[in-house]
This record gives sequence, structure tokens and C-alpha cells, in this order.
Amino acid sequence: MFSTQFVLIFSLFLSLPILFLLAPRIFPSHNPSIPISPSDELDDFVLFRKAIASASASAAHYPSAHSHLTSKSKKLKIAFLFLTNTDLFFAPLWEQFFKSADKNLFNIYVHADPHSNVTKPTGIFFSKFIPDAKRTYRASPTLISATRRLLANAILDDPTNTFFAVLSQYCIPLHSFKYVYNSLISSKSFDLSSPESDPESTQYNIKIQYKSFIEIISKDRRLWKRYVSRGKYAMMPEVPFEKFRAGSQFFVLTRRHALMVIEDRMLWNKFKLPCYREDECFPEEHYFPTLLSMQDPDGCTKYTLTKVNWTGTRNGHPYTYKAAEISPVLIQELRQSNYSSSYLFARKFEPICLNPLMKIADKVIFRD
Ligand SMILES: *[C@@H]1O[C@H](CO)[C@@H](O)[C@H](O)[C@H]1NC(C)=O
Ligand SMILES: *[C@@H]1O[C@H](CO)[C@@H](O)[C@H](O)[C@H]1NC(C)=O
Ligand SMILES: *[C@@H]1O[C@H](CO)[C@@H](O)[C@H](O)[C@H]1NC(C)=O
Repeated sequence: MFSTQFVLIFSLFLSLPILFLLAPRIFPSHNPSIPISPSDELDDFVLFRKAIASASASAAHYPSAHSHLTSKSKKLKIAFLFLTNTDLFFAPLWEQFFKSADKNLFNIYVHADPHSNVTKPTGIFFSKFIPDAKRTYRASPTLISATRRLLANAILDDPTNTFFAVLSQYCIPLHSFKYVYNSLISSKSFDLSSPESDPESTQYNIKIQYKSFIEIISKDRRLWKRYVSRGKYAMMPEVPFEKFRAGSQFFVLTRRHALMVIEDRMLWNKFKLPCYREDECFPEEHYFPTLLSMQDPDGCTKYTLTKVNWTGTRNGHPYTYKAAEISPVLIQELRQSNYSSSYLFARKFEPICLNPLMKIADKVIFRD
């Protein structure tokens, strides 16, 4: 009697460490949903308040960045926001991209995870690392915070930042700076989803209303699983399922929408909640499209300018191009879009693609 009880308890005791060993396989823990600390929240809150205050103060001095009515006389800038947790593999390619650009037409900001020892590249990126970067984890609200921090820094830094393009270390440009700038700032025919004959946009022969280029998807078979990943009623009442949207975390926002994002607290309080199914969470792919589709659906094109190849996707990672696949034909293929004249950026590429990309940079990528 005693011995069977003993054996039972002993074997239970033995199985505990085995369970701990197996746990990571049974419950994947690649993206710890560590709650964001109150001190990090406070830091962000202070930064966002400062950016919002500076934006309303400068609105009076720089009406062009808001109404765009005098876009021909005022230089409007594009803010390029790089979100990374590794070295910027394609820094030399981006360096080449910015080399031909008028320095008054762009700014660069980098949010580098301070825990991943990112090497600052020499050259144009060196002084562009924002000081308040914080740790990021894949598929977690920390990526939303990092993006909002980048937006706030860019708003605060320069009132003429008009478009805000969020990119990763795996993104490459598909065109010259001049092409990207004209497409976003001056072209009236780049966005194929808006009718060219829109009287509002042709009245003064200049673009009046800028739209954000952000993917907003309402029909996706994974949407319900993503919606309930924090609990069936966790998003209620602020975000009913009918308002929940999906999209890419890489987008180009107007200044108005960048401000809208850092002003938001209601949806952030929902999307920052930890998920119990982390493999079905991906808050960074839901927060921005849901927020903008709730607050200003007509101000968004609902498609992205960053090409991604989702065929044969594994673990939520898109296809990653290899060095041998880089060719002028691939660049042409990646540019093809049903929604705009062309995609402007693409991801993802293995770091080793840098050399073959540099070889075709001037002859193919930046020739347009
Ligand atoms: C970063 O560097 C520190 C000190 O050299 C080291 O302790 C740490 O493990 C490194 N972190 C990563 C993610 O490589
Ligand atoms: C997309 O990825 C698949 C592999 O999953 C590849 O076979 C295909 O060539 C890629 N498409 C393009 C346009 O590069
Ligand atoms: C464009 O739309 C067609 C028809 O829906 C589709 O077959 C094709 O894959 C789309 N091309 C791109 C680049 O999205």
C-alpha cells in the first residue's frame, strides 16, 4: 500500500520537470506577451502628449502640411520610419536611394530594440536612431508601441513631415526617391482606386486631400480567431467584431492619421491586453487598420504600397527572397499592383540579397 502510493507520488513528482521541458513545444512561447510596464506606458504617454501639443502649435505656422493647399510653395517631407530588432541589412541600398534626394524632402527615424545590440551603420542612418526606443517582441503590442513612438518622434521633430512610411530591416525600395516622392506628394493618377475625375482633387489642379496607404481587410478566415484571442468579450464594447480589421503593419500614413494614432487611448487599452493564444494574436496587424477604419475609412486607400509574397507562408512569416532570386525581372514583378501605378517597397529579403540588389540598384531599381 505504502509503496504504490509512494511510487505514484514519486512519478508525479518526476513528471513535473518533464512537463516543464515539454511545455514550450505544447504552448509555443516565441512571442512572450509580457504586459507593458506602467513606467514604459508613462514614458510613451508623455512623449505622445508632447508631440500632440507641438503639432497643434505648429499647425498655425505650417498650414501647408495640414491643408496642402499651398503644396507647391512649401516643401513637404516624407518621414521614413524604420522599425528593427537587428542590424539594418539594407542600409547601403537605402543610402543609395537617399543619395539622389533633395535633403529638404525627407527625414529618417530608426526604432532599434535596445536589447538586440543593433550596430549603427555609418552614413545617413548613424544619427537617426530615436533615443526612447524600447524592447520589442514579435506578434505583441510592443510593436504597436514602437510604431507609435516613431510616429510621435517624427511629428515632434519636423512640422513639415507630411507622410509617414513605416518600414522594416527586411524592406527594400522598388523605385528611386524621386518616383516615391512624386507618387505620394504630387501625382494625381498614382492611386488607381480613386477616380481621376474626382472634382474635389482636380478643382485647383493640385492634390487637396491626402490619403493613407494602409491595407484594411474585413474578410479573412482567421479574423474571428484573432478577434477572440484575448477572450470572447475582451474587445467589447469598444470594438465589436464587425469593426475588427486586419492589414499589414507596414503602411504610409498622412500626418492627420499619424496624429490620430498617437491620440488614441480607447483602442490601445484593448489591443494592449495580452493574448492567451499568441500564435493567433498579431495585434500590430489589427490595431492600425481597425483604428483608422473606425475613425476615417474614407481617408484610407485600404491597400498597402509594400509588396509581400504570402504564398507558402509558414508561422505567419511571408516568403523571404534568396540571393539567387534577385534579378531585374523580379523587381518588375514586385512592382505590379492592381491598386496603384506600382508598389513602392517590398519585403522580405535575406540579408545576403544586399550584394545582388546593389548590382542592379542604379540600372534597374532606381531607374524609372
Ligand atoms: C548584447 O550585448 C551584451 C553585452 O555585450 C550581451 O550581454 C547581450 O547578450 C547581447 N544581446 C544580444 C541579444 O545579443
Ligand atoms: C512567391 O513565393 C513563392 C514561394 O512560396 C515563389 O515560388 C514565387 O516565385 C514567389 N512569387 C514571386 C512573384 O516572386
Ligand atoms: C490582380 O488581380 C487579379 C484578378 O483578381 C489577380 O489574379 C492578380 O493576382 C492580381 N495581381 C496582383 C499583383 O495583385
